[in-house]
Amino acid sequence: MSHIPVMLSEMLDALAPFAGARILDGTFGGGGYASAILDAAPCTLWAIDRDSAAIARGAALAARYPGRLHVIEGGFGDLLGLLHEAGVDALDGVVLDLGVSSYQIDEPARGFSFLRDGPLDMRMGAQGPTAADLVATLPEAELADILYQFGEERMSRRIARAIVRARAEAPIETTLQLAAIIRGAMPPQRDGMHPATRSFQALRIRVNDELGEIERALSAAASILAPGGRLVVVSFHSLEDRLVKRFFAEAAGRTPGPSRHDPRGLAPSVAAEFRLLTPRALRPCDEEIRRNPRSRSARLRALQRLTPGTQGALS
Ligand SMILES: C[S@@+](CC[C@H](N)C(=O)[O-])C[C@H]1O[C@@H](n2cnc3c(N)ncnc32)[C@H](O)[C@@H]1O
Repeated sequence: MSHIPVMLSEMLDALAPFAGARILDGTFGGGGYASAILDAAPCTLWAIDRDSAAIARGAALAARYPGRLHVIEGGFGDLLGLLHEAGVDALDGVVLDLGVSSYQIDEPARGFSFLRDGPLDMRMGAQGPTAADLVATLPEAELADILYQFGEERMSRRIARAIVRARAEAPIETTLQLAAIIRGAMPPQRDGMHPATRSFQALRIRVNDELGEIERALSAAASILAPGGRLVVVSFHSLEDRLVKRFFAEAAGRTPGPSRHDPRGLAPSVAAEFRLLTPRALRPCDEEIRRNPRSRSARLRALQRLTPGTQGALS
């Protein structure tokens, strides 16, 4: 199955590629955003992904855009170093489409899905411990913390206890094995959500240090944007979106005032270098959610570096 790009037209509107623009797609994935950006304007695109399968797809796409698409394997948290090596020191646009692609979720061998059996891996790249390594070695309290913090799982302690009990009997090596242990530890779900949803999200975030990567990428992206340059982020769960929202608000000088009644919390400060292009996150329209249910939790936020002397006057 291929990956259907999420909020594609909203992303293009927010990124606004133009002739000669230098743009980074930090999450190449299936190349849906990348080809849409390259088709929208005669710009140059650098594309990062930490997944070698995505990089192989990128190499094939690069042949369709001679000299305009440069694909780089690595983590977007290290985008400054990766771009520096590629000779790029300023950008007019950066886009991050967070999370995993359908290629990754739908491939049982990658171990992301609790619906298909596969090795309990969950790594987007090839380095570091797998989910199976963490489940086999972490102390019960640390497992519970991960499930609670990164999955917002209220049953985290029960699930961690069940994992520790199960691993004493036999190693937990596959996705369905873990999903069954989680299901057995939880009361029946009333909301229709699979009982392993939150725990799998939590392990995936921890395995890939997803929140750390996002924090590093946001500051790096903001620092490399040229005046007028735009940063567009599409996130898929509240932990990601919270980081993006807070970073964007601070970059635009909208730090909260001393009380919520204090008007200083609402106005950008005089020294702000950025402005919010999306005062509120954009959501996919109903038609997109119907067409592509994976888009339902998407939120798009965009930020623009001000041109000195034109604060608030950019369109
Ligand atoms: C939702 S998909 C992107 C889909 C893409 N926009 C498209 O239209 O095909 C996310 C991609 O980002 C990659 N990714 C996630 N976190 C990353 C990171 N920290 N560094 C580099 N790539 C990352 C994943 O490997 C995955 O291929």
